[in-house]
Amino acid sequence: MFNNSSIQLPSTSTMKSIAVFTSGGDSPGMNACIRAVVRAGIYKGLTVVGIRGGYEGMIEGDFMEMQSASVSNIVQRGGTILKSSRSSRFMTNDGMKLAYEQLKKNNIDGVVAIGGDGTFKGAGEFYTFQQSLLSAPSQSGKGTLLERIPFVGIPGTIDNDLYGTDYTIGYDTAVNTALEAIDKIRDTADSHHRLFFIEVMGKDAGFIALRSGIAGGAEAILIPETKTDISQLIKTLKEGWQRHKYSMIVVVAEGDEQGGAFEIAKKVKEKFTHYDTRVTVLGHLQRGGRPTCLDRVLASRLGVAAVEALLKGEKNIMVGIQHWNITYTSFDKATKHHKDINRELFNMVKILAS
Ligand code: F6P
Repeated sequence: MFNNSSIQLPSTSTMKSIAVFTSGGDSPGMNACIRAVVRAGIYKGLTVVGIRGGYEGMIEGDFMEMQSASVSNIVQRGGTILKSSRSSRFMTNDGMKLAYEQLKKNNIDGVVAIGGDGTFKGAGEFYTFQQSLLSAPSQSGKGTLLERIPFVGIPGTIDNDLYGTDYTIGYDTAVNTALEAIDKIRDTADSHHRLFFIEVMGKDAGFIALRSGIAGGAEAILIPETKTDISQLIKTLKEGWQRHKYSMIVVVAEGDEQGGAFEIAKKVKEKFTHYDTRVTVLGHLQRGGRPTCLDRVLASRLGVAAVEALLKGEKNIMVGIQHWNITYTSFDKATKHHKDINRELFNMVKILAS
C-alpha cells in the first residue's frame, strides 16, 4: 500500500479508450461510481465504454460507449445501471480468451473493475493469463510483444471485507439500512417483551453486524471473526432477564460459525425458555436503496482516482480509502490479506449491554 497524493495526470499516457464494469454482488453507490469513472474519463479526453453484466458481458461483447449524459440522474440510485453477475466462465481459460478478444476488438486500453474480492481475483488471474496468450508463438514462429490490458479495481461490496480500504462502496448504506430495521424491530420487541435475533448480511465478515449492532444498541453481536459461545450468550440473556430487561436484540452476521439467526435462536431456545423469541432475516434489502452521502462521495472519489491510476500506468491495484486518503493496494494483497474488525468496538458490546 502506498499513498497517492497527486491527482494530476501525466500528459504522456497513450491510453485512448477505457472500459468500466460492475461485478459480483451489487452495492448502493455503484452507480455514483460508474458516473465518476465515465465523467473523469471523458474529462481527460478518453473514450469510455461500459460493459454490461460483469465478466459475462465482457465474454459476450456486451459493450456500449458511454457519454456524459449516459450517467445523468444516477448518482442517487441503488443497483447498477451496468448490471452485474458472478461469472464461472471467466474462471476458465476459454472464457478469459474470449474476454481478451472482446476487449481488443473494442480497442480497450485499460479497464476499471468495480466489485469485491472475486472480481479482483479474476482481474489478477486475467492479467497473468494475458501474458501466456501474448507470449505464445505466433504463426510466424515469433512470440508477440503486445501490451497486456491493465485493470484497476474499485471496492464495491456491502460486506466491507477488503484489505486496503477502510470503507467499501455500499457498506455505509447497508449499515444504515440494517440500523433502520433494528430500530423498528426494537419498537415491537419492547411492546411485546420479546427477544429478537436479527440476521444481517456478511457471509465471511461481521462488519455490517458489528456497526449496526453497536448503533442499534444490541445486547449481543455474533460475527464470524470471533468465537460464538452459546452458553455465554445465554448467560448474557439470563442476566438481562434478572435485571428486568424483557426485550433484547441479538444481531447475527449470516456467516457466524454457530449458524444463521434461526439456528442460533433454536440453540438458545433449547436451553433458555424465558423469552418469547422471534427471528428476522434482513437479507437482500441491505443491498438496495439510495446510497448515503458517505457512499456517494466515496464512490465519486474512487471513480476519479481509478481513472487517474490507469492514466499513470498503474495496473493490478485496487484504489481504496485509508484515513480518508486515496491509496493503492495490489489485487494480491487486497484479496489475500485478512481485514480484521475493530476489536475495540467488539469489546465494547458487553459494556454497553450491561
Ligand atoms: O454482496 C455480498 C453479499 O451480500 C454477502 O454478504 C452475501 O452472502 C451474498 O452477497 C449473497 O449474494 P447473492 O445472493 O447475490 O449470491
